Amino acid sequence: MAGVFITFEGIDGCGKSTQLRLLASELRVRWLEVVTTREPGGTPLGQRLRAVLLDVKEQVDPLTELLVFAADRAQHVRTLLSPAIEANKIVLSDRYADATVAYQGSGRGFSPELIQEIVQLATDGLMPDLTLLFDLPVAESAVRTRRRTKAKHSDRLDREHSEFHERVRAAYLEIAKSDPERVRVIDARGSVKQTQQLVMDIVMPFLESKGLSANG
Ligand code: TMP
Repeated sequence: MAGVFITFEGIDGCGKSTQLRLLASELRVRWLEVVTTREPGGTPLGQRLRAVLLDVKEQVDPLTELLVFAADRAQHVRTLLSPAIEANKIVLSDRYADATVAYQGSGRGFSPELIQEIVQLATDGLMPDLTLLFDLPVAESAVRTRRRTKAKHSDRLDREHSEFHERVRAAYLEIAKSDPERVRVIDARGSVKQTQQLVMDIVMPFLESKGLSANG
């Protein structure tokens, strides 16, 4: 039996990172072996690339940005994701290839063909078994990221204008529409607890369908 690969996606401030942490602890109390990771920054090299990519003081050219996200992913797939999946782990990743389609494709305007080619090169065809897309209006996500800005956690992409985030959100919803089997849209407007319940309602039956006992 191979492992399971689940990704968490959505616009900045959608709450996916909190939900990833909560799901990981729910699965661990059920004695399931979980690996949590993220993009960019899931590997030691990736952490260094992340620091540069998200640095608000850095002027990153859009093509450079696309290629550095891809470099981070190539390293992540080859040194962490594939080995963990082959070792039968449940791998939860905070963002993956759909982020490049949404942010660099729709956000920055690179052609779908180029994005597809670069995603294929970096992932070597590795796609998630399940993707949770945390959806909420850009205005609501902006309130949440503004709170982070005050706490000085906001990054270079958080600070893009709202039309950019609208394009990213629309692209994510389009991905979900074109691949409804893999991508499940979660209404992220509710409280952390309400959203967590929506996550559990999707993930637990999914894991059971994969033969993983998720009973406490
Ligand atoms: P996050 O860790 O807070 O989600 O921040 C990562 C930022 O990087 C977020 O603004 C989305 C962006 N990003 C891309 O633009 N393209 C990508 O391929 C990935 C993985 C992330």
